[in-house]
Amino acid sequence: MKIKKIAVAAAAFALVSAVALAGCSGQPAASSSASATDDAQGTTEEIVLVDDGKLTIAASLDFPPFENLEGSEAVGFEVDLMKALAEKMGLQAEYLPSTKFDTIVPMISAGGKADVGVSGFTVTEDRKKEIDFTDVIMDSNQGIVVMKDSGYTDVAQLAGKKIGAQSGTTGYDWAVENIEGAEVIPFDEMTAVFAALQSGQIDAIASDLPVVQYYVNNAYTDMEIIAEIPTGEQYAIVVSKDNPALTQALNDAIAEAKADGTYDTIYEKWFGASAE
Ligand code: ARG
Repeated sequence: MKIKKIAVAAAAFALVSAVALAGCSGQPAASSSASATDDAQGTTEEIVLVDDGKLTIAASLDFPPFENLEGSEAVGFEVDLMKALAEKMGLQAEYLPSTKFDTIVPMISAGGKADVGVSGFTVTEDRKKEIDFTDVIMDSNQGIVVMKDSGYTDVAQLAGKKIGAQSGTTGYDWAVENIEGAEVIPFDEMTAVFAALQSGQIDAIASDLPVVQYYVNNAYTDMEIIAEIPTGEQYAIVVSKDNPALTQALNDAIAEAKADGTYDTIYEKWFGASAE
């Protein structure tokens, strides 16, 4: 797949010149070359990139197995997927240094720093007011984590307790709305939320299930998941509302990756089983 870069202005100019020429010669205007990727209005939008030839990605690199830091390198399911999508678009995926999660949507909506936000972003109506989402790339749910020796076995026991969550996440909102009288404490990074539970600063964590499973299995074996909450969340890529051609190109690349097996290969690498 190749990105067709044809600006609205260029298309409009081509049309004006064609009409002008037609007016002079009396011949019908030849159809211009600016006919690719026409939308319903017949205009052609250009993909805008902050850095030519690159898909610049903002991510909170604290969310294994989706995106995490290995040394200074971004690794994870979404990292591999973004590299594959970028390649299909003829671009190179370029990760910015880890970015605080709750600043990514405003950053993409403001423009100029990154082309996309990719951080296990759940599609929500609130976020859709500020940015556009691509098609869905992953399903997810919430999970509640406590210390194994805490005695908590059920969410109802967490009423009035201190719950930690990453700032600006669906886990934070879920805890506020569903754990009676809880004091929900926001943290910038997932690693800080886990450290706070271990040090006794909070009683439980609310965050995305695949991620808490990863942390509990790989790093915090003194913790356990006491509840899986079927919130039915879906992850997608965050794109500026000013860049519909980029959203479209990403959706085409996602469809291609799903059809040609690229998506399944990456899914199996990180989750060990096929997506469907
Ligand atoms: N899915 C949740 C949300 O969209 C949490 C995402 C947190 N992502 C991260 N990379 N720390 O709110």
